Amino acid sequence: MSKDTIGTVMITEQQINDRAAEIARQIEEDFNGEPIVLVGILRGAVLWMADIMKNTNLEMTIDFMAVSSYGSGKKSSGIVKINKDLDTDIEGKNVIIVEDIVDSGTTLNYLKGYFESREAKIVKICTLLDKPSGRRVDIDVDYIGFTVDDRFIIGYGLDYDQKYRNLPYISFLED
Ligand code: IMP
Ligand code: MG
Repeated sequence: MSKDTIGTVMITEQQINDRAAEIARQIEEDFNGEPIVLVGILRGAVLWMADIMKNTNLEMTIDFMAVSSYGSGKKSSGIVKINKDLDTDIEGKNVIIVEDIVDSGTTLNYLKGYFESREAKIVKICTLLDKPSGRRVDIDVDYIGFTVDDRFIIGYGLDYDQKYRNLPYISFLED
């Protein structure tokens, strides 16, 4: 069992906050005064969800889902399992899924289909990070905080073996 080595700071808290404010303006424009439901995907999205929530000036309700597509390692299993379902009826609602990172796209592709089957009016995706190098499923991501290269990212909600979610910045694990 070797010790993890945390890399340098890739994205600061200030940069994330500034980007959240920009995306919030975009969301306000896109939904033009209509109410929205933000659905945060536990647990990685918690900090980013809070940033988007407090910056978006629209009538809003929030909910959370927990899904797993990852085991405890760094590779996706490709299978999505719902560990906590919605408490909200989203039929006819404007839904924005808030995620920490889009890697293979498996999770969001599944969730988008799931929300559409529950007859949401609109389903959009807002992710803190996009890692296009990992993509295996083609998916439209509406709001992207930052694009990252092919590294294992930690911090600002993202974990490795459930650790490092509390880092107030985005970093990566050294190989
Ligand atoms: P996807 O289904 O492959 O797109 O994976 C999405 C989920 O895998 C994310 O919500 C994360 O929880 C996790 N994940 C993917 N890449 C990373 C990473 O670099 N660091 C931490 N978690 C990751
Ligand atoms: Mg996640």
